[in-house]
Amino acid sequence: MVKPIVSIIMGSDSDLPIMEEAAKILDSFEIPFALNIFSAHRSPEKLETHLQKMLTQGIQVIICGAGAAAHLAGAVASRVQIPVIGVPLAGSPFNGLDALLATVQMPGGIPVATVGVGKSGAVNAALLAIQILALGNPLYAEKLAHHRTQQKDKIDLKNESLRVKYSALFKNICFSD
Ligand code: RP5
Repeated sequence: MVKPIVSIIMGSDSDLPIMEEAAKILDSFEIPFALNIFSAHRSPEKLETHLQKMLTQGIQVIICGAGAAAHLAGAVASRVQIPVIGVPLAGSPFNGLDALLATVQMPGGIPVATVGVGKSGAVNAALLAIQILALGNPLYAEKLAHHRTQQKDKIDLKNESLRVKYSALFKNICFSD
C-alpha cells in the first residue's frame, strides 16, 4: 500500500471546503497524502495518535488548517521535528485575523511556516510542501517548474484577451510587454 508523505489535518469538517484546495494540488502532483480532522482542543489524544502513526510511516511535511483559536499547527509543531505549515482559516466573527495571529505568532523555538488566510493559503501550503519535498526529489522539482510555466501562460492569455477587448474600446491605449 502507498504510504502518505504529506499529512493534511484540519480542526473541523467546516474547514474542509478550503483545505480541499490543498488536497487538489497534492493530488495533481501525484503526491500521496493523508487527510483527516483532528482538533487540538476537541480531540487532542486522537491527534497525538495520528502524529505517531504518520511519523512511523515516514511522513515528511504536515499541513494544518484551523480557524478561530487556531492552536492546531502549533500543537502539532510542538510534537514533531518535520516541517509544519499552518493555514489560518476565516469563519469566525474576526474573519480569520484571530486564526492568523494564533498560527503565525509561535514562541521562538517551535516554528510553524504560516501561509495566508483561506483558499490561497491552502493552495500555497500545498505548493510549499511540494517545494520542501522537491529538495530531495527532482521529479517534484520538474513538476513545480511546469506548474509555474502554466501560470505564466495563463497571464499571457489574459493579456491577449485584454488587448483584444481594450484596443477596440480605447483609441489612445498603448500596449507594451
Ligand atoms: C477550529 O474552530 C476549527 O478549525 C474551525 O475552523 C473552527 C470552528 O469549528 P466548528 O465549530 O465549525 O466545528 O477549531
